[in-house]
Amino acid sequence: MSWIKNLKIWLFNQMCTSEARLDGKTDVITGASSGIGKETARDLYARGARVILACRDIEKTNKVAEDIKNNPPLRVNKDEYKKNTGELAIYFLNLRSLKSVRDCAKNLLTNEATIHILINNAGVSALPYEKTQDGIETTFQVNHLGHFLLTLLLLPKMQLSSPNCRIINVSSFTYVAGDIDFDDINLERSYGPLKSYTQSKLANILFTKELARRLKGANIRGINVYAVHPGVISTGISQYGSSTVFPGATFCFNTYAQLFCKNIIQGTQTTIYCAVDEETANDTGLYYSNCDIATTYRKANDPQYPEKLWNLSCRLLHLEPEEDFITFLKTVSRQML
Ligand SMILES: NC(=O)c1ccc[n+]([C@@H]2O[C@H](COP(=O)([O-])OP(=O)(O)OC[C@H]3O[C@@H](n4cnc5c(N)ncnc54)[C@H](OP(=O)(O)O)[C@@H]3O)[C@@H](O)[C@H]2O)c1
Repeated sequence: MSWIKNLKIWLFNQMCTSEARLDGKTDVITGASSGIGKETARDLYARGARVILACRDIEKTNKVAEDIKNNPPLRVNKDEYKKNTGELAIYFLNLRSLKSVRDCAKNLLTNEATIHILINNAGVSALPYEKTQDGIETTFQVNHLGHFLLTLLLLPKMQLSSPNCRIINVSSFTYVAGDIDFDDINLERSYGPLKSYTQSKLANILFTKELARRLKGANIRGINVYAVHPGVISTGISQYGSSTVFPGATFCFNTYAQLFCKNIIQGTQTTIYCAVDEETANDTGLYYSNCDIATTYRKANDPQYPEKLWNLSCRLLHLEPEEDFITFLKTVSRQML
């Protein structure tokens, strides 16, 4: 049956064709315990990287690591896999807790000599209304704010590891329906399970643009930033839909995704493309879909939104967004580690 699978990929979806090796590179992937993150980790491990699975459920992630070690991605044969893989390591990261984000960053900075690729992939959607222990609406914190902080804390190490460092923020085309409620970021007055998701996915794109702009402005070269729409894929992402959106929503989403959209391997391709492909090596601050640059629409193009979101994110973390980006990064590290 695998030839049918390959034919479907060939006919309908762009694949990352790069054969780039990542020997000697260290890659951090959040939310690698299932879905897109897990399969992305498998691919990067097959390319020889030291892959760090930054996850909240260690027992589950141990099993995932075993699975990755024993089973190559589709494009690699088993004998080749045994000889050419990298390393796997697991770090605890629960994005619902900013303390956990800081602790994870601290551990990474202490134990890892270099970090070349950071994939901010973990995500939740359609949650019932809840706030984290930090007082932030959970979807916004898990999908955006936690990754925002993690990235700022890891940037100095990435700077030392550059050139050829890349940060990938896994967004979603649903950002098109989103807006940032700057006056009520926790959506206390107008929460909706999809509204919170689209807000957070728009935030992923705005963060990508603003971080790229600030890196350029500070003349920090060799760290590129990408936002990605992976496609629509049947994964755990829709698990809360039936209880918050409408009864049967999870089943409908998964059935639709399985019949008409991407499978999980296809769903990893744009992330991998941005992480490793030679074609994207000089890009930064852009949005990708189907292994290509994609146009952004609506609020993602508002010229004031990226900086406004940056400043709001800093305020939520009690950080002063200083003019000078290098001084800012030093302050973040001093205050947060
Ligand atoms: N699937 C799609 O159709 C689709 C479409 C567009 C964009 N995306 C994006 O793709 C990314 C990956 O999603 P997926 O589809 O692979 O869904 P998934 O299978 O549910 O994977 C989500 C991952 O995020 C992790 N996660 C959730 N909450 C976390 C927390 N508090 N701290 C740390 N990790 C946490 C999960 O960990 P546990 O295993 O512990 O739950 C899991 O590993 C998300 O950013 C999502 O928004 C997906």
